[in-house]
Amino acid sequence: MNDVIALLRSHRSIRRFSAEPVSDEMVTEICGAGFAAATSSNMQAATAIRVRNHDTRAAIATLAGGQTYVETAGAFLVWCADLARSASVATNGGAEPVIDMAEHHVRACVDVGLAAQNAAIAAESLGLGICYIGGVRNDPQQVCDLLDLPVGVYPLFGFCIGWPAQDPETKPRLPLSVTLKEERYDATNDAADIARYDEQMREYYRTRTGGKKDTTWTADMGTLLGQESRPHLKQFLAQRGIDLR
Ligand SMILES: Cc1cc2nc3c(=O)[nH]c(=O)nc-3n(C[C@H](O)[C@H](O)[C@H](O)COP(=O)(O)O)c2cc1C
Repeated sequence: MNDVIALLRSHRSIRRFSAEPVSDEMVTEICGAGFAAATSSNMQAATAIRVRNHDTRAAIATLAGGQTYVETAGAFLVWCADLARSASVATNGGAEPVIDMAEHHVRACVDVGLAAQNAAIAAESLGLGICYIGGVRNDPQQVCDLLDLPVGVYPLFGFCIGWPAQDPETKPRLPLSVTLKEERYDATNDAADIARYDEQMREYYRTRTGGKKDTTWTADMGTLLGQESRPHLKQFLAQRGIDLR
């Protein structure tokens, strides 16, 4: 296994950070690496906003459901899908841009994911830890207001970067027999493989929580998908000019 692959395979989210600052140079280097990722149609539809203001970070931590590491991480970014920038240059060039297409939305979300994950790898290569914060979508309009986001720009997730003050185990992933298929989608053996993975996850949670958390991936997915999930998002996107068609 080469060093890059070893680094990728050592990823685990970090939620406890030391007070040591993350230098501006490091954040710049991390983001520069992030935006070097491939981008759909070269649209470059990702924008990251670094939030330094303590009150803003505290407000985001609260609306993300009380995730205090948003405040304590050495640096905090909000990654946004950005269809406004390309629409604006298209308008300046004489076009009449239509941004409310599902295709543009998908492009922008993919761009943000690729750029942020590149940034995550860059940060981890420097010895830093990261944690994504999907909790910013709990109340995305408030995040827009806090960050002055124009129509066509919408937050997808936050991103904590900092010096780890914990050393958690890596979280097991589904076996490749489930996630990597050959030629066609053959799920014949998935149930048995997932049952084995469930036991691995149960052991992982037990070890990690001293026996307090006793659950499986199957149970987690039942909880996640057994209820509506952020049902406000559809209307929120429409308000941001992304009334999908
Ligand atoms: C887009 C995205 C949003 C996430 N949001 C949160 C979050 O709000 N809070 C949190 O503690 N972890 C969050 N996570 C981290 C996941 O829970 C974590 O990546 C997953 O459980 C796998 O664990 P690992 O990263 O330690 O391997 C998020 C991850 C992603 C990719």
